[in-house]
Amino acid sequence: MSLSWSAKDHKNTGQPAAAGPKRLRNDMGNKVTVVLGAQWGDEGKGKVVDLLATEADVVCRCQGGNNAGHTVVVDGKEYDFHLLPSGIINPKSISLIGNGVVIHLPGLFEEGDKNEKKGTGLKGWEKRLIVSDRAHIVFDFHQVVDGLQETERQAQEGKNIGTTKKGIGPAYSSKASRTGLRVCDLLGDFKDFSTRFKNLVHQYQSMYPSLTVDVEDQLKKLKEYAERLRPMVRDGVYYMYEALHGSPKKILVEGANAALLDIDFGTYPFVTSSNCTVGGACTGLGIPPLNIGDVFGVAKAYTTRVGIGAFPTEQLNAVGELLQTRGHEVGVTTGRKRRCGWLDLVIVRYAHMINGFTAIALTKLDILDVLDEIKVGVAYKLNGKRIPHFPANMDVLQKVEVEYETFPGWKTDTSAARKWNDLPAKAQNYIRFIENHIGVPIKWVGVGKSRECMIQMF
Ligand code: GDP
Ligand code: IMO
Ligand code: MG
Repeated sequence: MSLSWSAKDHKNTGQPAAAGPKRLRNDMGNKVTVVLGAQWGDEGKGKVVDLLATEADVVCRCQGGNNAGHTVVVDGKEYDFHLLPSGIINPKSISLIGNGVVIHLPGLFEEGDKNEKKGTGLKGWEKRLIVSDRAHIVFDFHQVVDGLQETERQAQEGKNIGTTKKGIGPAYSSKASRTGLRVCDLLGDFKDFSTRFKNLVHQYQSMYPSLTVDVEDQLKKLKEYAERLRPMVRDGVYYMYEALHGSPKKILVEGANAALLDIDFGTYPFVTSSNCTVGGACTGLGIPPLNIGDVFGVAKAYTTRVGIGAFPTEQLNAVGELLQTRGHEVGVTTGRKRRCGWLDLVIVRYAHMINGFTAIALTKLDILDVLDEIKVGVAYKLNGKRIPHFPANMDVLQKVEVEYETFPGWKTDTSAARKWNDLPAKAQNYIRFIENHIGVPIKWVGVGKSRECMIQMF
């Protein structure tokens, strides 16, 4: 497989690679490849990362927490990753959890240990994991508060967000309000950490009087986690700098969540609390924008959404049910049924405007194999008139009417297709339409869960 890694661009200027007192290098360094969700999540990012990770030296997570659920199927075994980069399955690569990620420590160790038992892929995973000292910590009480906030929203507004209750919103709130605690704090003076932890608990208890926290028990556990974590912790900025400017390295960034869940660009307030678009790769890892190379957008051949919020192409009918059942559309993190609908190219184009995709991976084409006809949303109308933008206001988005293009179904099993010519002409037509409408080449087409079921187009 030929990937457009740009390691060949690396120029040796003769400058010392190390930072610190020596001169920093002024060449461009290596380029990083970024994989991002182009819809509302669960597009198959894990699978695309797994495919690319076989060639990567470093695989990084830059944002989100264990609200993500990325599935990887290797040799018939299914692994699910929430906090760990999916690339951890490749024993030759290093995995890095960047400063932009919020980490729930019990969740991290549980996930690694659970997946390690499934096969040989994760053996010794702790030795291949680097955790940034600047990453913020999600505490158990953040998760409890997440649930309390959902109950409050339901009571006050008659609807909640439908969060994963993994404490993501509260942890990023602590970070933004500058009361959060980071990995470097946990590994520093524990007395100081304990004081700040108690203050943070107190702050939340004054907002939520029903919140009970066994502070001493939490601190005892955190101290134990700290010792298990210590060998993995590094200064993420320096690590990335070395990876970019040392010997040519192939660096892959695994986005979590997706464009329409982005705190700035998503369907606010029905979003997550981090930047899931390309900027999150820079701020969440400490890498300069000029080091971003390929940006691969992952989109399903239809659309799904977990949780509450407007979904213009949702099909609350037999089509939606068929997509849900055939696509096994159940959340990896929460076990909730995913809402399903037709592919919405208004949102994928919007995601492209923000991310500048260099290519797209179109997944789950095989799920459409049995349909008589397939629709694709191409524009939104309001009061009968096309609107030029993806609306920021959710009341407006709720009201839009979708303009569709209709395609005849190919009614052929595509799951065994391994190259473009194996696909039926009607499926090829569907793919080419999508490509032309977004204006970005489709590099892969997914026709099944495993690594092999990815048709590479160029
Ligand atoms: P992520 O969060 O973007 O990594 O995606 P998830 O893992 O949450 O959900 C994608 C689901 O679709 C997983 O169960 C994958 O195994 C599955 N999947 C990915 N690509 C394909 C595909 O091309 N065809 C089929 N049938 N399943 C796929
Ligand atoms: P991956 O990486 C799908 C959704 C939740 C909820 C909203 C806010 O697997 O694609 P949060 O717990 O983040 O505060 O929830 O965002 N959400 C996701 N939906 N896939 C994800 O991740 C998601 N991460 C968050 O369902 O609606
Ligand atoms: Mg997922």
